[in-house]
Amino acid sequence: MFKTRITDLFGIEYPIVGGTMMHLAMVEYTAAVSEAGGLGVLASANFKDMELFRKALREIKVRTKKPFAVNLNFFPALNQIDNNLYLNVILDEGVRIVETSGHRAPEDVVGRIKKAGVTLVHKCVGVRYAKKAESIGADAITVVGYENGGATGTLDVTTLCLVPRVVDSVKVPVIGGGGVGDGRGMAAVLALGAEGVIVGTKLLVAEETPLHPEIKQRLTGATELDTMLVLRSLGNTHRVWKNDTAQKVVEIEKNGGGIDELLPLIAGMVTKEKFAQAGDGGMLACGMGIGLCTEVLPMREILRRMAAEAQQALARLNRLIPS
Ligand SMILES: Cc1cc2nc3c(=O)[nH]c(=O)nc-3n(C[C@H](O)[C@H](O)[C@H](O)COP(=O)(O)O)c2cc1C
Repeated sequence: MFKTRITDLFGIEYPIVGGTMMHLAMVEYTAAVSEAGGLGVLASANFKDMELFRKALREIKVRTKKPFAVNLNFFPALNQIDNNLYLNVILDEGVRIVETSGHRAPEDVVGRIKKAGVTLVHKCVGVRYAKKAESIGADAITVVGYENGGATGTLDVTTLCLVPRVVDSVKVPVIGGGGVGDGRGMAAVLALGAEGVIVGTKLLVAEETPLHPEIKQRLTGATELDTMLVLRSLGNTHRVWKNDTAQKVVEIEKNGGGIDELLPLIAGMVTKEKFAQAGDGGMLACGMGIGLCTEVLPMREILRRMAAEAQQALARLNRLIPS
């Protein structure tokens, strides 16, 4: 139904990437996105043990024969990650697509990725980062605007302005996102020149996403006003769900509190536990597109509806042009 350089490059049906998500983009989520016709992206940083990581890759390959990707994380972390260890397993297990994201270009792993003939996608939030990633050999660039759930960087450029700027600045295909909550958003991002879309927030309410069902229900009632920025004081800005935890985090930041004071609220282990419990969900990355996530649905249905709505939106626009 949509054929772009991205559907060709990845070998997928819909030009939709299911955004990688710390603590959530595990086996079931990743396989579900790929089985539904998009590209699922496993978050390697979820695995501290390389054998568990290998096991996860094998489980995905059992659940789906369709293409999937693995994300390598280049964000600052308390316990710094050696991405070369993950890459050993990725190459061993024959994964064909790697996504990198973080505060810098993946210069230290690009050589090994390219030498193995693996497709490299780099995700970033600005034109200069996109150009840098292309210059070192990325096969595609993902850009997400300020509306997005998760890391927003410091440039604060909206999706509407960022996507066409990046499309005009690189030759490789671009995947755009940040705020895509339905097929109208998907059509809009494709109209901006992207050849694929990335969605994260929308998939928080997919049945296969391992968030507590009560949190998902609460998210279906949230609106575009229910997100906020946190951790700017640490140079690690994230857009998250505006809940009690996020408001406490900002309060501590306003009062000049540092990492020691913040850790009980933001540490990975704490967050992971909160995602699995009924409650406020802890520090849950969430974009402005949450206002369009009104129903908990199977992944397959979310992607099917999104692509069908995008097609309808484009047909509607076409009818606006007098023949
Ligand atoms: C709960 C959650 C966790 C995320 N974790 C990560 C992550 O660990 N690494 C990463 O590169 N992006 C992460 N993201 C960003 C998504 O992969 C994707 O780029 C983003 O959600 C797209 O914007 P949207 O939320 O407006 O759809 C996360 C997003 C969410 C909602």
